[in-house]
Amino acid sequence: MNKPVIYISRKLPKSLLEPYSDRFTFHMWDQEDKPVDKEELLKESKKADGLITMLTEKIDDRFLRENPQLKIIANLAVGFDNIDIMAAKKHHIIVTNTPDVLTETTADLTFALLMATARRMVEANDLIKQDGWEVWSPFFLAGSDVHHKTIGIVGMGRIGEAVARRARGFDMRVLYHNRSRKPQAEKDLPATYVNFDELLTQSDFVVSLIPATEQTKGLFNHDIFLKMKTEAIFINASRGAVVNELDLASALENGVIKGAGLDVFSREPIGSDHTLLALKNAVCLPHIGSATVQTRKDMVRLCLDNLDSYFYGDGPKTPVQ
Ligand code: DGY
Repeated sequence: MNKPVIYISRKLPKSLLEPYSDRFTFHMWDQEDKPVDKEELLKESKKADGLITMLTEKIDDRFLRENPQLKIIANLAVGFDNIDIMAAKKHHIIVTNTPDVLTETTADLTFALLMATARRMVEANDLIKQDGWEVWSPFFLAGSDVHHKTIGIVGMGRIGEAVARRARGFDMRVLYHNRSRKPQAEKDLPATYVNFDELLTQSDFVVSLIPATEQTKGLFNHDIFLKMKTEAIFINASRGAVVNELDLASALENGVIKGAGLDVFSREPIGSDHTLLALKNAVCLPHIGSATVQTRKDMVRLCLDNLDSYFYGDGPKTPVQ
């Protein structure tokens, strides 16, 4: 059999591809920090048997229809809302993602974001660098406690459970809301399942870890922020699309909630003129949840392993459909 041709939509380290080079012919977009052009992706995909894509590539029904020769798309992310999964199914194209390898890293970042927001660390860092530290005073940059508070996790997948484990280390009470109950996690952590309204009204920290779907789009809106405590801090480390950002900005400005820590935005990248960036009580990060060198290497390897086990083994390791 000819070596399958794989097109990679971003420049990845050659050293990671090397171990697979006797099994695949790789073609790759030549830039690391700039997404591939739409036309280039289409042109290159037509010559490929499989793809490795980033979350910056929108893979829709039309794209898939124009690429009937594609057999598999390995998405370099655990989330796959950039790909029309129903259409991929219809066109018999397998889609894989990168679960597990990024769980702990993403949970670390989520919890760090929660702490940074609660303790106003970014604001404090900005202030000191702008020569604004004039005197110690009792309530200078006083933030919110994390220990012994209640965390409400919306979306109790693998990352949710890993965040909950960190929260237990801070003696937090863990509430969660999820499509299905997690009896083992409830027992082991422990964590308490509550309905969405209860989670909103009881939590000091509301943490969104839900995927972006038609059902969750804009879920966190004005009405939802109104249900939270005025002292509540909202954290989003899943997808920006689950938040109505104008409603969030207004909730933060008007004291409806106390703060927000955001790693994701509805349209990425955001520019410096984004409303949320002007707010001191919003800590904003450029979608770096899984961004450690080790984890990103593991994610690339999992994509390659998925291709390898699909073409040469007994099926992809982590298919999403
Ligand atoms: C994911 O994997 O879905 C993250 O958002 C990107 O690292």
